[in-house]
Amino acid sequence: MRKTIIAGNWKMYKTIKEAIELSNGIKRELFKLDNPGIDIVLCPAFTALSEVAEVVAESDIMLGAQDLYWQDEGAFTGEVSAKMLKDAGCTFVIIGHSERRQFFGETNESVNKKIKAALANALTPIVCVGETLKQREARETFKVLEDHVRNGLDGLNKEDLLKIVIAYEPVWAIGTGKTATPEQAQEAHKYIRELLGKLYGKEAAAQVRIQYGGSVKPENISALMRQPDIDGALVGGASLQVASFAEIVKKAAEVIK
Ligand code: 13P
Repeated sequence: MRKTIIAGNWKMYKTIKEAIELSNGIKRELFKLDNPGIDIVLCPAFTALSEVAEVVAESDIMLGAQDLYWQDEGAFTGEVSAKMLKDAGCTFVIIGHSERRQFFGETNESVNKKIKAALANALTPIVCVGETLKQREARETFKVLEDHVRNGLDGLNKEDLLKIVIAYEPVWAIGTGKTATPEQAQEAHKYIRELLGKLYGKEAAAQVRIQYGGSVKPENISALMRQPDIDGALVGGASLQVASFAEIVKKAAEVIK
């Protein structure tokens, strides 16, 4: 049985004060949901991690970062290590988000190193994979997913696999208001799970949580969650408001109950 996981990727939004307000608001709303059986993860910018950690400390809400660097320490100006994220209170870290692949030169090789660094420091990586519109139109979706999964997870064993979360985020659905239809998302999730089955065995693949990300909103979460291989959501824009994020969690809870 895979536990549903809903994460908010706050991207480069929210000052420290705003992050405290947002996390407090989310905590208050989710407290009203009597143990929804969902893992909730908030991923603020680096600057707000410690403060949000304090807000969520006495709750079930968990903290994640949006990236990391694979070295423990050293002369790497501007970078933040897994050890530092642990120290700030993180238990999760997003790795290989398409915005990092697109704007900051992230490659499968760097994703791979980052996943290994996260695992070595007991952080759960949320590994993002997904195709661009051009790749989808060229019917390369599965090829891209295979490339991201195979090379991103290179060298990981079955035990490692069971410690990661995968997020399928079609690039064309991120921040565009265009969600993949539940069928399109399910098709990609199923493909990823089958590929993991080939690489690690069916039993292990059946345990891996695969989130969908890309314009997830209160209006579309239920249909997405009804798909058999969708185990939650990685939410961008709609995670920046208490009401919409709480509503997404509430609706997901209704589907899985
Ligand atoms: P949106 O929900 O804003 O489309 O962003 C999705 C995303 O990139 C989450 O990581």
